[in-house]
Amino acid sequence: MNTIIVGAQWGDEGKGKIIDILTEQADYIVRYQGGNNAGHTVVVGGEKFIFHLIPSGILHPEKVCLIGNGVVVDPRAFISEVEYLKDKGLKIDGNLLVSERAHIIFPYHRMLDNLREERKGGTPLGTTRRGIGPCYADKMTRVGLRLCDLLNPEYFARRLKDTLDEKNEILSKVYNFKGFEFSKIYDTYSEYAGKMKKYACRCSSILNKAVEKGKNILFEGAQGTLLDIDYGTYPFVTSSNSVAGGACIGTGISPTKIDNIIGVVKAYTTRVGEGPFPTEFPAGLINVVQSKGEEFGSTTGRARRCGWFDSILARHSVMINGLKEIVVTKLDVLDELESIKICTAYKHKGKVIEDFPAEVEVLSEVEPVYEEHPGWKQDISKVSKYNNLPLNARKYLERISELLGIKVSIVSVGSNREQTIFV
Ligand code: GDP
Ligand code: IMO
Ligand code: MG
Repeated sequence: MNTIIVGAQWGDEGKGKIIDILTEQADYIVRYQGGNNAGHTVVVGGEKFIFHLIPSGILHPEKVCLIGNGVVVDPRAFISEVEYLKDKGLKIDGNLLVSERAHIIFPYHRMLDNLREERKGGTPLGTTRRGIGPCYADKMTRVGLRLCDLLNPEYFARRLKDTLDEKNEILSKVYNFKGFEFSKIYDTYSEYAGKMKKYACRCSSILNKAVEKGKNILFEGAQGTLLDIDYGTYPFVTSSNSVAGGACIGTGISPTKIDNIIGVVKAYTTRVGEGPFPTEFPAGLINVVQSKGEEFGSTTGRARRCGWFDSILARHSVMINGLKEIVVTKLDVLDELESIKICTAYKHKGKVIEDFPAEVEVLSEVEPVYEEHPGWKQDISKVSKYNNLPLNARKYLERISELLGIKVSIVSVGSNREQTIFV
């Protein structure tokens, strides 16, 4: 089975935990888009691991983890993540590979990300400031540099010089920033190239050969459907295709080879950064969910905004990703609530909307229509069988499944591996 795992909300749905669990049945785990803007947390035996670039499957040393061509790689972040994992005692030796076609993040990308966010009169997006947007922009404008380009010293020097000349003009003329010295970046990145060389691979060939041999591939999505550059809440999105379709482009595996697509949702909704959020909690409730759910970003530490489960948004994800099943995480976070709401429609200027709108202004004006469900008021964090969940919790899950028109296959009731219910 070749399975894509995709976030079906605004990211941080708990994809890392689910990838770690499903890795048992996989041979290869591959990240297909995004970069170190992601933060995937896996808790094993009480120990917490946070992955930004490296697939969450790395905790299983006998599996091969790959970073696909669709990912943007900051070598500084990659090298320090490898060190972090080695310090934690993980084996990283031949089981981690990076596509030679992956684009590389440079200091001017990070700087441009920062300067654009801070620019007066602009629209801050609340990015992670990791240089993701500017790097993808360079890829599309065809002035980016890939890992294979970094590994060829003369070619690298020539291309870096060209692109840096232009970047420095933009930095000084538009942003009044002095710019970067060629030799400093060249030397630092040549050193990175030396360290990255052993990871560089022809990712699509490796994966296609694996498919031919009947091996199982797990595609690890980062971010979420509503952060997708095409299908998200543009412009408050990230710069890649985080939807399931991105998995094929970002790895070189054909859509004909994909067997299953699983969406991950939280039992409620969260979002980090700016942008409309129809079901966002009013003050008060947010504190309960934010503290019980530990809703603070694993990459930037920012508090995540929280709200009710939004079935309009989730249905959009089911459609765009062609989801076949859904995983509901963090159900335990709702344990103490007296009653729980689900948004079943939006109202805009007196009209009912059931299709997720494209216009960001409409989305910020819609009024959610809710139905209310009684809470279960009991600790479910130790429940291991679906039928042992309280009736109201099962009813809540079944209503989500009904509204989305697909089955719930896994329910997560805590951050540990064991706190997982297979339905
Ligand atoms: P990802 O980016 O989609 O991998 O999600 P994050 O790791 O950024 O955020 C999910 C957070 O929720 C992490 O801290 C997980 O350890 C935690 N988590 C995952 N599943 C559950 C769950 O079922 N219950 C609780 N309480 N925490 C969970
Ligand atoms: P994981 O994989 C949640 C958000 C940022 C910002 C917007 C654009 O852990 O689910 P960017 O730096 O990508 O240009 O920022 O996207 N964002 C995420 N939000 N989870 C993530 O990743 C995110 N990656 C980016 O907060 O609103
Ligand atoms: Mg995250």
